Amino acid sequence: MGDDLEERAKRAVGRKAVEEFVRPATCIGLGSGTTAFYAIERAGELVREGMELRAVATSGETARLCREYGIPLAEFGDAEIDVAIDGADEVAPDWSLVKGGGGALFREKAVALAARCFIVIVTERKVVEWLGAFPLPVEVVPFSLRYVKREIEALGAAVRVRERGGAAYVTDNGNGLLDCRFGTIHAPADLDAALHGLHGVVTSGLFIGLTSKVLVAKSDGTIAELARSAGL
Ligand code: A5P
Repeated sequence: MGDDLEERAKRAVGRKAVEEFVRPATCIGLGSGTTAFYAIERAGELVREGMELRAVATSGETARLCREYGIPLAEFGDAEIDVAIDGADEVAPDWSLVKGGGGALFREKAVALAARCFIVIVTERKVVEWLGAFPLPVEVVPFSLRYVKREIEALGAAVRVRERGGAAYVTDNGNGLLDCRFGTIHAPADLDAALHGLHGVVTSGLFIGLTSKVLVAKSDGTIAELARSAGL
């Protein structure tokens, strides 16, 4: 898909998810990133058209967009989240995900875990046979960043400390991020457990068993639900 087509596909799938899954008087979880942006935009239109909605934002940037679009915000934990809508960096056939390319993985996972229903919106290029081509983000408390980097390298990954503007990247939670290349991830649940076993890891970008539905925007302009299979 060319860049224009890719952008149109993101817009189509973001809007479609809101139109299909957002109901009046509900609280929605709104994701982060360039695809989720279009869901936020559509939710803002619904609010302007008079629909009563509240949203829990998965990042500071999403909260800022909600304010810009007039979507009332709820604090995480104060309201039941009826449906959460978010993008992903990779989607496997069993609907496990890699997320966090935009650095919002902790809040995104918090919202996905708490939501009654978690809708993933992606373009075709995010659908993979195996997770792992996209470097796996791992959020780490700053004190432990170097230690955890070495421990993850010992698990077999090439690890980089994420930077922005020449300094270590700082998440919305005040933590650091490690981008970890494990190669093909054959057992995501085992890897996630191993990462969470390292003292200092806050969370990983592996989202396993959280997805309720995956909407995929295809290059021919259509949107399809991804059928779930156990994987290869
Ligand atoms: C943000 O931290 C991420 O998890 C995003 O949801 C993910 O990176 C997908 O973003 P795009 O829709 O911008 O590709």
